[in-house]
Amino acid sequence: MDESGVATVKVNLGERSYPIHIGNNLLAKRTSLLAGLDRVSHAVIITDSNVGPLYLDQVSEIFQEAGVRTDSYVVPAGEKSKGLASAESIWNWMLDVKADRGSFVVALGGGVVGDLAGFAAATFARGVRLLQIPTSLLAQVDSSVGGKVGVNLPKAKNMVGAFYQPCAVWIDVSTLRTLPQREYLSGLAEVVKYGVILDSNFFSFLEEHVDDLLAQDPAVLVSVVKTCCQLKATIVEQDEREVTGLRAVLNYGHTFAHAIETLTGYNQWLHGEAVAIGMACAAKLAVRLGMFPEELAQRQESLLSSLHLPIRIRGLAADKILECMMRDKKVQHGHLRFVLPTTIGRVVLVPDVSRQQVESVIDEMQDLSL
Ligand code: NAD
Ligand code: GLY
Repeated sequence: MDESGVATVKVNLGERSYPIHIGNNLLAKRTSLLAGLDRVSHAVIITDSNVGPLYLDQVSEIFQEAGVRTDSYVVPAGEKSKGLASAESIWNWMLDVKADRGSFVVALGGGVVGDLAGFAAATFARGVRLLQIPTSLLAQVDSSVGGKVGVNLPKAKNMVGAFYQPCAVWIDVSTLRTLPQREYLSGLAEVVKYGVILDSNFFSFLEEHVDDLLAQDPAVLVSVVKTCCQLKATIVEQDEREVTGLRAVLNYGHTFAHAIETLTGYNQWLHGEAVAIGMACAAKLAVRLGMFPEELAQRQESLLSSLHLPIRIRGLAADKILECMMRDKKVQHGHLRFVLPTTIGRVVLVPDVSRQQVESVIDEMQDLSL
């Protein structure tokens, strides 16, 4: 951390390396931020209808004060904007505002804007530079880092895209103050995930700072976001394009979560909420398989619950969840594979779990209070 309270994490990927700057009120530290970017002649800022009114002026001014031309494009907030129709509108608009390889696409918003604007940057003129300014907790600890960009097809989420690393990521944790509380808590599920899959000390830190997390203490937030970015960077550096399987550890809880999200039409649970339920199910499955102590599963459940996250399945039958899991793109040749914990801080890929085991865990994880 430097004297102005800004922490920097470097993602080391050879010529595609980039810094992630994390601070409270980072966007107020204007010129120092731009000093790190090379040859910016034009900033093409893409944001959404919730984030734009809050932060677009502040971000535009960073560039304008340095004499950089800015143009901005606002998409409607929400997952529906993450499609090819929006991408095409953005490509045409970028042509109209004369974007070229000297331009920077600036993704200002949550994961939807990050993925969509990132996809536009990766594809327009075969690639223009990308700056991520994530404003949701999920985007700050996950989607803005690692270079996965893309859009949804009507029948499949995140189906068209690229690995396209940004030139820099600017994370201002003070933007989380305007994020709806439910979205913030949902992002905390991904934070807990990093502790379970990679770092037991971090998990303990989270247990000790539940009240600070709920109160959005700025120093704790900078520290937590920094650790998450560092942990993600370590994985991405070793398996940038998800070839060796290492990057798949980030999918802990996601096989259950995707089935729950799909079956509830993506409108009952936010992604992080479904991931919290998915992590609770995955831990219980690991207990069933005799590879994870029950008391650690309970520790994970206690932390998730204390962060007001759900940990039980509501009203979805086991056979429906299993059917949906079998259609998941992570299922290979009909074999159910899961990322499962062996202790807090370590997960392994278990390649062939029986349907019966999964079904009985789903039955056990039903919310019977309903
Ligand atoms: P989102 O972008 O829809 O943001 C959630 C909501 O919060 C939106 O209504 C948004 O307008 C609003 N918002 C964001 N920041 C705000 C702020 N500071 N103040 C007020 N409102 C704010 O959703 P998300 O949860 O950020 O991201 C979900 C998307 O991320 C999904 O499309 C998912 O597929 C993608 N994702 C991508 C990766 C990756 O590696 N690329 C990883 C995880 C998730
Ligand atoms: N969010 C999963 C990944 O970046 O690989």
